[in-house]
Amino acid sequence: MPCFSALCVCFVLLLSPALTQTFSEDIQVLVFLPQNNSYLFSNARVAPAIRYAQQKLETAGGAYSGFHFTIQFEDSDCLNDALYRLVDRSCGLKPDLILGPVCEYEAAAVVRLASHWNIPVISAGALAAGFSNKNSEFSHLTRIAPSYVKMAETFSAMFEHFTWRSALLVYQEDKEERNCYFTVEGIYHLMVDLHIKTYSFSRDERMDTEDILHNIEQTEVVIMCMPAEKIREIMLAAHRRRLTNGNHMFFNVELFNATSYGNGSWKKGDKYDNDAKKAYASLNTVTMLRTVKPEFENFSMEMNKSFKNSGFLDCNDCGSVNMFVEGFHDAMLLYAIALHEAMKNGFSKKNGTEVTSHMWNRTFEGIAGQVSMDANGDRNGDFSLMSMTNVEAGTYEVVANYFGVNGTFQLLPAFNTDHFTLKVKYKEHLEIPDKSCELGVSAMTGVIVGAVLGTAMLIGFYFFRKNYRITIERRTHTEECDTGKHRQLREDSIRSNLSAA
Ligand SMILES: *[C@@H]1O[C@H](CO)[C@@H](O)[C@H](O)[C@H]1NC(C)=O
Ligand SMILES: *[C@@H]1O[C@H](CO)[C@@H](O)[C@H](O)[C@H]1NC(C)=O
Ligand SMILES: *[C@@H]1O[C@H](CO)[C@@H](O)[C@H](O)[C@H]1NC(C)=O
Ligand SMILES: *[C@@H]1O[C@H](CO)[C@@H](O)[C@H](O)[C@H]1NC(C)=O
Ligand SMILES: *[C@@H]1O[C@H](CO)[C@@H](O)[C@H](O)[C@H]1NC(C)=O
Ligand SMILES: *[C@@H]1O[C@H](CO)[C@@H](O)[C@H](O)[C@H]1NC(C)=O
Ligand SMILES: *[C@@H]1O[C@H](CO)[C@@H](O)[C@H](O)[C@H]1NC(C)=O
Ligand SMILES: *[C@@H]1O[C@H](CO)[C@@H](O)[C@H](O)[C@H]1NC(C)=O
Repeated sequence: MPCFSALCVCFVLLLSPALTQTFSEDIQVLVFLPQNNSYLFSNARVAPAIRYAQQKLETAGGAYSGFHFTIQFEDSDCLNDALYRLVDRSCGLKPDLILGPVCEYEAAAVVRLASHWNIPVISAGALAAGFSNKNSEFSHLTRIAPSYVKMAETFSAMFEHFTWRSALLVYQEDKEERNCYFTVEGIYHLMVDLHIKTYSFSRDERMDTEDILHNIEQTEVVIMCMPAEKIREIMLAAHRRRLTNGNHMFFNVELFNATSYGNGSWKKGDKYDNDAKKAYASLNTVTMLRTVKPEFENFSMEMNKSFKNSGFLDCNDCGSVNMFVEGFHDAMLLYAIALHEAMKNGFSKKNGTEVTSHMWNRTFEGIAGQVSMDANGDRNGDFSLMSMTNVEAGTYEVVANYFGVNGTFQLLPAFNTDHFTLKVKYKEHLEIPDKSCELGVSAMTGVIVGAVLGTAMLIGFYFFRKNYRITIERRTHTEECDTGKHRQLREDSIRSNLSAA
């Protein structure tokens, strides 16, 4: 009998690796997230999701239960903190996996160093177009949230479907994280064959609505990225000028902050509410498509709970799971799958190139639904288009979805073709100003990057910059005229922000 059970144990030991193939490995994870809670991806919001994933992975019986994660959370200030923390480890134990940072400039430096050190990086950020080039310095970056260029595919699909030809991209430039700049850059980057104008204004300047309206008058489609109150200001002004009569399409892009779009976003409790409601009938919003599956409920509740426990009560949407929370959770899963596969093929966790390659070009089941990674290590994105469907009540509904994995645009029953059909078709060749210097009548406001300059910059985008590429630059009026100085400034700004590594 003892002999039999010994045989049995022996049998199980022999069989089980063949069936589930668990590997034992200790994995050092370094996570860069801001301690500052004003970020949607702050440590307090995202860390519980990473812990949740860790717990699920390490649960006995699973294929990944042999992996033991040691997770270290480090602060990230969206400037250089993360880089310094990483450099401090030059001589010590290097991590096997880096999660984050989210902010573009900080991520650029960290990813560069990590790629050099052969360490995989997964981020739910680093969404700018420049990171798409994985051939050299960003070779070890996997982006678990859909990038801005993926978002732009939604617009591409719409432009094609409705045969729109010209767009005005209006955005607020903050000169720090530059989220709206990078959002707009994604669109600019993708839609090369269209007539595109950009218009930016600084967060600290007064917005010149008059100038913006003037630009809107000349374009079919207006795409905006800026805080909700500025959107409202522009929409109200456009409505007063009768630009919301169907001759222009208005969009805003709001990917992450669910509380700032949809029902009631026009409502501020002031005397303009009624006008705003009418104006917003022409405003459509592009946002992430959110899916939910049964397991998500538990996850969502756990996140809500842990956020409460961490003591931040003065925040109404803090318990909600946003794309960053979801993304970093799924990052842990993806890494486990990839490492497991790499080890099965005889590689170790130290071969970052190999592990990274197993994260790309694959589909797996994330916490909220299927996650599809393209062959370049970027997540394929699904996006929703929301429109006001009840003009009386001023309520919004999702009217269409775009699926990045197969590039299809799905129209829902609430979709109204008339709403998206321009009443007036614009003549094909809109006037192209040949000197951008003549455009800015009021030099203090944002400068319009004209088509000529835009094309030059686009060429520059491909050929000039070895480093992080920046296609559209906002410069003051005088700098715009001085091309030499302009270029020098660009180099300086890139150097100071990005070449620290
Ligand atoms: C957190 O970030 C916000 C916005 O970037 C900033 O205004 C605030 O000063 C920061 N708080 C701390 C404690 O650093
Ligand atoms: C989200 O949007 C709401 C409404 O516009 C705003 O009050 C809130 O500060 C935003 N949250 C973040 C983290 O940006
Ligand atoms: C979620 O599931 C776990 C185990 O599956 C359970 O322990 C926990 O209580 C659940 N959380 C909620 C909020 O239901
Ligand atoms: C979080 O849970 C509380 C109750 O515990 C609930 O009132 C609140 O709506 C939840 N928030 C979210 C975003 O689910
Ligand atoms: C890592 O794996 C690649 C194959 O993907 C192989 O060419 C390379 O030699 C390996 N590097 C190390 C350090 O083992
Ligand atoms: C991606 O995976 C599919 C099979 O799943 C394969 O046919 C294709 O060649 C792969 N693409 C790249 C670029 O590796
Ligand atoms: C807006 O409100 C309407 C009616 O209450 C509801 O049907 C719709 O789902 C809501 N839309 C969003 C995006 O929450
Ligand atoms: C595209 O993908 C989505 C989501 O996976 C799916 O629902 C849809 O049916 C697909 N469409 C086509 C035409 O394959």
